[in-house]
Amino acid sequence: MTVGDTSEAEHFRTQGHAVIDLAADYLAAAFQGTLPVLPWREPDQAVDAYATSFSDEQPLVPLLHRVLTESVHVHHPRCVGHQVAAVLPDAALTELLNALLANGMAVYEMGPTSVPMERAVVRWMCSQLGFDANSDGILTGGGSTGNLTALLAARQDRAGFDVWKDGAHGGPPLTVLASDQAHYSVRRTVQIMGWGHLGVATVPTDSAYRMDPAALATTLQAAKNAGRRVVALVASAGSTATGSFDPLEPLGSFCKEHGLWFHVDGAHGASVLLSSKHRSLLKGIERADSVVWDGHKLMMLPSLVTGVLFREKRRSYEAFSQQASYLYEGMDPEAEWYNLGTRTLECTKRMMGVTAYVALASRGTQFFAAHVDAMFERAARFAKLLEAQPDFELATFPQCNIVCFRYCPQGVEDLDDLQVRLRKAIVKSGEFYLVQTRLQQGVFLRTTLLNPHTTDQDLEALVETIRRSKRS
Ligand SMILES: Cc1ncc(COP(=O)(O)O)c(C=O)c1O
Repeated sequence: MTVGDTSEAEHFRTQGHAVIDLAADYLAAAFQGTLPVLPWREPDQAVDAYATSFSDEQPLVPLLHRVLTESVHVHHPRCVGHQVAAVLPDAALTELLNALLANGMAVYEMGPTSVPMERAVVRWMCSQLGFDANSDGILTGGGSTGNLTALLAARQDRAGFDVWKDGAHGGPPLTVLASDQAHYSVRRTVQIMGWGHLGVATVPTDSAYRMDPAALATTLQAAKNAGRRVVALVASAGSTATGSFDPLEPLGSFCKEHGLWFHVDGAHGASVLLSSKHRSLLKGIERADSVVWDGHKLMMLPSLVTGVLFREKRRSYEAFSQQASYLYEGMDPEAEWYNLGTRTLECTKRMMGVTAYVALASRGTQFFAAHVDAMFERAARFAKLLEAQPDFELATFPQCNIVCFRYCPQGVEDLDDLQVRLRKAIVKSGEFYLVQTRLQQGVFLRTTLLNPHTTDQDLEALVETIRRSKRS
């Protein structure tokens, strides 16, 4: 086919039918678990298996078939590793249209559907948080970018000098309080902002890996004694490693008392607001100055869809301040609210609001609430199963759908090495995809239950697979 060929629309139709058939057959096989979860190859072999010159034309469908079979299969019931959703198939269809439309979204004129749909999703998210009509926010590409955006706004609001204009060294060195369980993007954000290693003052956690409010005053004072100006506190809801929820009410009170910006990293857990059974884990979130909420975790949306939500609308304009006459109208940014690029790191942005809007509108919120409840209940049952095994140990009883545990058979001296070896063997075998994390007590195996097709029997089989891998 040549560039600009007018038969391209018909070609798209026939190819499209073939690709959807391929994807639907793939999905059925993934749901049934008849594929290896991850068709393991060593990274150098995998890289060598792909061509690096593209002079010949190859048919599309076999190329896409290859992509499907050689990927990790997030819809496989035994895919229980990182916090990656088993994506709603309908949402993938929306993404297909998004890719075709390519309505960039930096300014309203580039996204006459995607901008209003994003505004609707953001308003809905703010109302779930308990924020009033004076709140606002934007969608961005991922929780890491979300944390960066929120903390840039915190910096501008609380630094006591104009950091955007004068730079990181225009005043005293700045610091945020965060627990030792905060996602690495928090420290990365701080170091991007030029605050150095001491830019995070680490607050200890309790035995369930939640930030300990009793340790806040000492941590704050120690940072001040080291000459730092503390501007914000970052709470995890829930944390990446163990899914623990920091106690938001006392943390919010502490922030109010000390004039700190209160940021809640709800990348994983903000979706719990949809569940009437579990939303009490987020009590106090309505007091946050900013919240990050990933739709591509517990809401089953394709990567990436992240809300960065501000209790006060005007704060959403503080992260960035830029003149760009070829895009923006150059008026007061609040008057230009519909040109979303003034408030996001991205200029061209994927139509993520469309994906979120269509999923919410076509399924209804109760669907997502039921998913959260089901995943939490499955995690609790899995944790009880593990508790009942004399040769397994939980890191902590899970507060959400992340379960951390380790295998501790008698007579093994190096338990860390055992977890690492067994995990690698199981992943390579293609039987399960699970991950690991290092906690204070050592290396633990980590599972995130995000797939409605995972059953209790799959998790019982995981326990047996771990035991069997040790014997073999
Ligand atoms: C608590 C938390 N914050 C932030 C992130 C980063 O999100 P993303 O992968 O969307 O950048 C994660 C990812 O796992 C997370 O668990």
